[in-house]
Amino acid sequence: MSDRYCVFGNPVGHSKSPAIHAAFAVQCHQDLRYTAILAPLDGFATSVREFVASGGRGANVTVPFKEEAWRLATRRTGRAELAGAVNTLAFDGSGILGDNTDGAGLLRDLTVNLGCHLAGSRVLVLGAGGAARGVVGPLLDSRPAKLVIVNRNVDRARDLAQRFAGTAALHVCSYPELAERSFDLVINATSASLGGELPPLPASVFAAAGTAYDMMYGDGDTPFLAFARRHGAVRLADGIGMLVEQAAEAFRLWRGVRPDTAPVIATLRGASIANDR
Ligand code: ATR
Repeated sequence: MSDRYCVFGNPVGHSKSPAIHAAFAVQCHQDLRYTAILAPLDGFATSVREFVASGGRGANVTVPFKEEAWRLATRRTGRAELAGAVNTLAFDGSGILGDNTDGAGLLRDLTVNLGCHLAGSRVLVLGAGGAARGVVGPLLDSRPAKLVIVNRNVDRARDLAQRFAGTAALHVCSYPELAERSFDLVINATSASLGGELPPLPASVFAAAGTAYDMMYGDGDTPFLAFARRHGAVRLADGIGMLVEQAAEAFRLWRGVRPDTAPVIATLRGASIANDR
Protein backbone atom coordinates (compact mmCIF):
# COMPACT_ATOMS: atom_id res chain seq x y z
CA MET A 1 0.00 0.00 0.00
CA SER A 2 1.23 3.56 -0.76
CA ASP A 3 2.50 5.68 2.15
CA ARG A 4 -0.14 8.19 3.24
CA TYR A 5 0.26 11.94 3.77
CA CYS A 6 -2.28 14.76 4.02
CA VAL A 7 -2.90 18.43 4.68
CA PHE A 8 -5.10 19.39 7.62
CA GLY A 9 -6.99 22.69 7.40
CA ASN A 10 -10.35 24.37 7.82
CA PRO A 11 -11.28 25.27 5.17
CA VAL A 12 -9.10 23.00 3.06
CA GLY A 13 -11.19 22.24 -0.03
CA HIS A 14 -9.27 24.57 -2.33
CA SER A 15 -5.81 23.49 -1.14
CA LYS A 16 -3.28 23.02 -3.93
CA SER A 17 -1.07 20.80 -1.74
CA PRO A 18 -2.49 17.45 -2.99
CA ALA A 19 -1.71 18.41 -6.60
CA ILE A 20 1.77 19.68 -5.66
CA HIS A 21 2.74 16.52 -3.74
CA ALA A 22 1.28 14.27 -6.44
CA ALA A 23 3.52 16.04 -8.97
CA PHE A 24 6.56 15.69 -6.66
CA ALA A 25 5.85 11.99 -6.17
CA VAL A 26 5.76 11.33 -9.92
CA GLN A 27 8.91 13.37 -10.49
CA CYS A 28 10.85 11.62 -7.68
CA HIS A 29 9.41 8.13 -8.27
CA GLN A 30 7.93 7.96 -4.77
CA ASP A 31 4.97 5.71 -4.00
CA LEU A 32 2.70 7.89 -1.85
CA ARG A 33 -0.86 9.15 -1.58
CA TYR A 34 -1.60 12.72 -0.37
CA THR A 35 -5.10 13.97 0.44
CA ALA A 36 -6.77 17.02 2.03
CA ILE A 37 -8.52 16.47 5.38
CA LEU A 38 -11.02 18.96 6.76
CA ALA A 39 -10.43 18.92 10.54
CA PRO A 40 -13.23 20.30 12.74
CA LEU A 41 -12.23 23.62 14.35
CA ASP A 42 -12.36 21.94 17.78
CA GLY A 43 -11.06 18.56 16.59
CA PHE A 44 -7.58 19.03 15.12
CA ALA A 45 -5.74 16.77 17.62
CA THR A 46 -8.34 14.00 17.22
CA SER A 47 -8.07 14.19 13.42
CA VAL A 48 -4.28 13.89 13.61
CA ARG A 49 -4.46 10.89 15.97
CA GLU A 50 -6.97 9.14 13.70
CA PHE A 51 -4.73 9.75 10.70
CA VAL A 52 -1.68 8.36 12.53
CA ALA A 53 -3.69 5.31 13.69
CA SER A 54 -4.73 4.62 10.08
CA GLY A 55 -1.09 4.54 8.99
CA GLY A 56 -0.41 8.21 8.08
CA ARG A 57 3.32 9.01 7.80
CA GLY A 58 3.25 12.80 7.68
CA ALA A 59 1.06 15.87 7.27
CA ASN A 60 1.03 19.51 6.40
CA VAL A 61 -0.94 21.90 8.55
CA THR A 62 -2.61 25.06 7.34
CA VAL A 63 -4.98 27.77 8.65
CA PRO A 64 -6.02 27.85 11.46
CA PHE A 65 -4.11 24.95 13.08
CA LYS A 66 -0.40 25.91 12.88
CA GLU A 67 -0.09 27.03 16.49
CA GLU A 68 -2.09 24.04 17.74
CA ALA A 69 0.19 21.77 15.69
CA TRP A 70 3.18 23.34 17.47
CA ARG A 71 1.64 22.35 20.82
CA LEU A 72 0.74 18.85 19.61
CA ALA A 73 4.27 18.02 18.41
CA THR A 74 6.29 15.91 20.85
CA ARG A 75 9.59 17.07 19.25
CA ARG A 76 10.30 20.19 17.20
CA THR A 77 13.02 21.40 14.86
CA GLY A 78 14.87 24.57 15.90
CA ARG A 79 13.11 26.69 13.28
CA ALA A 80 9.68 25.42 14.40
CA GLU A 81 10.59 26.11 18.02
CA LEU A 82 11.50 29.70 17.19
CA ALA A 83 8.45 30.28 15.02
CA GLY A 84 5.97 28.99 17.59
CA ALA A 85 4.04 27.51 14.66
CA VAL A 86 4.27 24.18 12.79
CA ASN A 87 3.26 23.52 9.18
CA THR A 88 4.80 20.06 8.77
CA LEU A 89 4.39 16.95 10.92
CA ALA A 90 6.24 13.64 10.58
CA PHE A 91 5.00 10.50 12.35
CA ASP A 92 7.87 8.09 12.84
CA GLY A 93 6.64 5.71 15.49
CA SER A 94 8.46 7.52 18.30
CA GLY A 95 6.13 10.51 18.44
CA ILE A 96 5.22 13.56 16.39
CA LEU A 97 8.00 15.70 14.91
CA GLY A 98 6.96 19.30 14.17
CA ASP A 99 8.80 21.42 11.60
CA ASN A 100 8.13 24.77 9.99
CA THR A 101 9.10 24.98 6.32
CA ASP A 102 7.26 28.26 5.57
CA GLY A 103 10.25 30.52 6.18
CA ALA A 104 12.63 28.38 4.13
CA GLY A 105 10.00 28.29 1.36
CA LEU A 106 9.62 32.07 1.35
CA LEU A 107 13.37 32.65 1.42
CA ARG A 108 13.99 30.28 -1.44
CA ASP A 109 11.24 31.85 -3.53
CA LEU A 110 12.56 35.36 -2.84
CA THR A 111 16.23 34.67 -3.41
CA VAL A 112 16.38 31.79 -5.92
CA ASN A 113 13.19 32.25 -7.96
CA LEU A 114 12.84 36.04 -7.81
CA GLY A 115 16.49 37.09 -7.45
CA CYS A 116 15.97 39.40 -4.43
CA HIS A 117 19.05 40.45 -2.44
CA LEU A 118 17.99 40.67 1.18
CA ALA A 119 21.30 41.48 2.90
CA GLY A 120 21.36 45.18 3.74
CA SER A 121 17.82 45.82 2.50
CA ARG A 122 14.83 47.41 4.27
CA VAL A 123 12.07 44.83 4.78
CA LEU A 124 8.51 45.39 6.02
CA VAL A 125 6.37 42.45 7.22
CA LEU A 126 2.62 43.06 7.51
CA GLY A 127 0.92 40.90 10.15
CA ALA A 128 1.87 39.06 13.33
CA GLY A 129 -0.24 35.89 13.13
CA GLY A 130 0.71 32.32 12.30
CA ALA A 131 1.92 33.15 8.80
CA ALA A 132 4.22 35.95 9.98
CA ARG A 133 5.62 33.81 12.82
CA GLY A 134 7.08 31.29 10.40
CA VAL A 135 9.01 33.81 8.31
CA VAL A 136 10.52 36.43 10.65
CA GLY A 137 13.41 34.22 11.86
CA PRO A 138 14.56 33.10 8.38
CA LEU A 139 14.22 36.70 7.09
CA LEU A 140 16.45 37.95 9.93
CA ASP A 141 18.99 35.21 9.10
CA SER A 142 19.42 36.82 5.69
CA ARG A 143 20.72 40.00 7.42
CA PRO A 144 18.46 42.84 6.27
CA ALA A 145 19.53 46.34 7.41
CA LYS A 146 16.08 46.69 8.96
CA LEU A 147 13.08 44.44 9.43
CA VAL A 148 9.88 46.15 10.62
CA ILE A 149 6.79 44.20 11.73
CA VAL A 150 3.54 46.17 11.49
CA ASN A 151 0.21 44.93 12.83
CA ARG A 152 -3.20 46.44 13.68
CA ASN A 153 -2.84 44.88 17.12
CA VAL A 154 0.62 46.21 17.99
CA ASP A 155 0.90 44.13 21.17
CA ARG A 156 0.71 40.98 19.07
CA ALA A 157 3.59 42.28 16.93
CA ARG A 158 5.57 43.03 20.11
CA ASP A 159 4.99 39.45 21.33
CA LEU A 160 6.34 38.12 18.06
CA ALA A 161 9.39 40.43 18.13
CA GLN A 162 10.06 39.34 21.71
CA ARG A 163 11.02 35.91 20.39
CA PHE A 164 14.00 37.58 18.68
CA ALA A 165 14.88 39.94 21.53
CA GLY A 166 18.29 41.56 21.12
CA THR A 167 18.16 41.67 17.31
CA ALA A 168 19.04 45.29 16.52
CA ALA A 169 17.59 45.23 13.00
CA LEU A 170 14.10 44.26 14.23
CA HIS A 171 11.44 46.92 14.95
CA VAL A 172 7.69 47.00 15.56
CA CYS A 173 5.24 49.74 14.64
CA SER A 174 1.60 50.62 13.99
CA TYR A 175 0.17 51.33 10.53
CA PRO A 176 -0.06 55.13 11.10
CA GLU A 177 3.63 55.15 12.05
CA LEU A 178 4.50 53.97 8.52
CA ALA A 179 3.61 57.36 7.01
CA GLU A 180 6.45 58.67 4.78
CA ARG A 181 8.58 55.52 5.27
CA SER A 182 9.64 53.27 2.41
CA PHE A 183 11.01 49.74 2.07
CA ASP A 184 12.81 47.67 -0.57
CA LEU A 185 10.62 44.64 0.14
CA VAL A 186 7.08 44.62 1.56
CA ILE A 187 5.70 41.19 2.51
CA ASN A 188 1.99 40.76 3.20
CA ALA A 189 1.72 38.02 5.86
CA THR A 190 -1.79 39.07 6.94
CA SER A 191 -4.88 37.12 6.04
CA ALA A 192 -6.48 40.33 4.65
CA SER A 193 -6.34 39.14 1.02
CA LEU A 194 -8.50 36.11 1.93
CA GLY A 195 -11.39 38.50 2.62
CA GLY A 196 -10.59 40.76 -0.35
CA GLU A 197 -9.27 43.41 2.08
CA LEU A 198 -6.21 45.63 2.09
CA PRO A 199 -4.22 46.39 5.27
CA PRO A 200 -4.34 50.15 6.06
CA LEU A 201 -1.00 50.91 4.39
CA PRO A 202 0.25 54.31 3.30
CA ALA A 203 1.21 54.34 -0.40
CA SER A 204 4.69 55.63 0.53
CA VAL A 205 5.89 52.21 1.71
CA PHE A 206 6.79 50.98 -1.77
CA ALA A 207 10.22 52.33 -2.65
CA ALA A 208 10.94 53.02 -6.31
CA ALA A 209 11.97 49.69 -7.84
CA GLY A 210 10.83 47.83 -4.71
CA THR A 211 9.30 44.37 -4.37
CA ALA A 212 5.82 43.52 -3.08
CA TYR A 213 5.18 39.93 -2.00
CA ASP A 214 1.79 38.57 -0.94
CA MET A 215 2.00 35.23 0.87
CA MET A 216 -1.61 34.66 -0.20
CA TYR A 217 -2.61 33.96 -3.77
CA GLY A 218 -5.69 34.00 -5.93
CA ASP A 219 -6.65 34.44 -9.55
CA GLY A 220 -5.08 37.72 -10.66
CA ASP A 221 -3.64 40.40 -8.34
CA THR A 222 -4.64 40.30 -4.66
CA PRO A 223 -5.85 43.70 -3.30
CA PHE A 224 -2.36 44.17 -1.79
CA LEU A 225 -0.57 43.49 -5.09
CA ALA A 226 -2.96 45.74 -7.02
CA PHE A 227 -2.25 48.55 -4.51
CA ALA A 228 1.52 47.93 -4.72
CA ARG A 229 1.41 48.00 -8.54
CA ARG A 230 -0.34 51.40 -8.46
CA HIS A 231 2.18 52.84 -6.01
CA GLY A 232 5.59 52.08 -7.42
CA ALA A 233 6.52 48.44 -6.71
CA VAL A 234 8.12 47.00 -9.83
CA ARG A 235 8.50 43.38 -8.80
CA LEU A 236 5.31 41.68 -7.64
CA ALA A 237 4.80 38.09 -6.51
CA ASP A 238 2.01 36.11 -4.94
CA GLY A 239 2.48 33.13 -2.62
CA ILE A 240 2.40 30.35 -5.24
CA GLY A 241 6.20 30.08 -5.34
CA MET A 242 6.40 29.96 -1.53
CA LEU A 243 3.64 27.36 -1.41
CA VAL A 244 5.54 25.04 -3.74
CA GLU A 245 8.89 25.68 -2.03
CA GLN A 246 7.57 24.98 1.48
CA ALA A 247 5.98 21.81 0.11
CA ALA A 248 9.33 20.74 -1.37
CA GLU A 249 11.00 21.22 2.04
CA ALA A 250 8.31 19.07 3.67
CA PHE A 251 8.71 16.42 0.95
CA ARG A 252 12.47 16.36 1.59
CA LEU A 253 11.87 15.87 5.33
CA TRP A 254 9.51 12.96 4.69
CA ARG A 255 11.15 11.24 1.72
CA GLY A 256 14.81 12.33 1.79
CA VAL A 257 14.74 13.79 -1.75
CA ARG A 258 14.16 17.39 -2.79
CA PRO A 259 11.96 17.76 -5.87
CA ASP A 260 12.65 20.27 -8.64
CA THR A 261 10.10 23.03 -7.95
CA ALA A 262 10.30 25.04 -11.19
CA PRO A 263 8.08 22.79 -13.35
CA VAL A 264 5.47 22.52 -10.59
CA ILE A 265 5.35 26.31 -10.10
CA ALA A 266 5.01 26.75 -13.86
CA THR A 267 2.14 24.24 -14.01
CA LEU A 268 0.25 25.94 -11.15
CA ARG A 269 0.70 29.37 -12.70
CA GLY A 270 -0.47 28.05 -16.06
CA ALA A 271 -3.55 26.52 -14.43
CA SER A 272 -4.49 29.77 -12.65
CA ILE A 273 -4.09 31.77 -15.88
CA ALA A 274 -6.38 29.25 -17.58
CA ASN A 275 -8.91 29.72 -14.74
CA ASP A 276 -8.86 33.48 -15.34
CA ARG A 277 -9.98 33.06 -18.91
P1 ATR B 1 -2.52 33.49 9.88
O1 ATR B 1 -2.21 32.13 10.41
O2 ATR B 1 -3.00 33.49 8.44
O3 ATR B 1 -1.42 34.48 10.11
P2 ATR B 1 -3.97 34.67 12.08
O4 ATR B 1 -3.05 34.06 13.08
O5 ATR B 1 -5.43 34.71 12.34
O6 ATR B 1 -3.84 33.96 10.69
O7 ATR B 1 -3.45 36.17 11.82
C1 ATR B 1 -4.04 37.01 10.87
C2 ATR B 1 -3.14 38.23 10.69
O8 ATR B 1 -3.69 39.06 9.66
C3 ATR B 1 -3.05 39.12 11.92
O9 ATR B 1 -1.79 39.75 11.93
C4 ATR B 1 -4.17 40.15 11.66
O10 ATR B 1 -3.99 41.37 12.31
P3 ATR B 1 -4.50 41.59 13.85
O11 ATR B 1 -3.63 40.69 14.70
O12 ATR B 1 -4.25 43.02 14.12
O13 ATR B 1 -5.94 41.18 13.85
C5 ATR B 1 -3.98 40.34 10.18
N1 ATR B 1 -5.15 40.86 9.46
C6 ATR B 1 -6.28 40.19 9.12
N2 ATR B 1 -7.12 40.99 8.40
C7 ATR B 1 -6.48 42.18 8.27
C8 ATR B 1 -6.81 43.43 7.63
N3 ATR B 1 -7.96 43.59 6.96
N4 ATR B 1 -5.92 44.44 7.72
C9 ATR B 1 -4.75 44.28 8.39
N5 ATR B 1 -4.37 43.14 9.01
C10 ATR B 1 -5.23 42.11 8.95
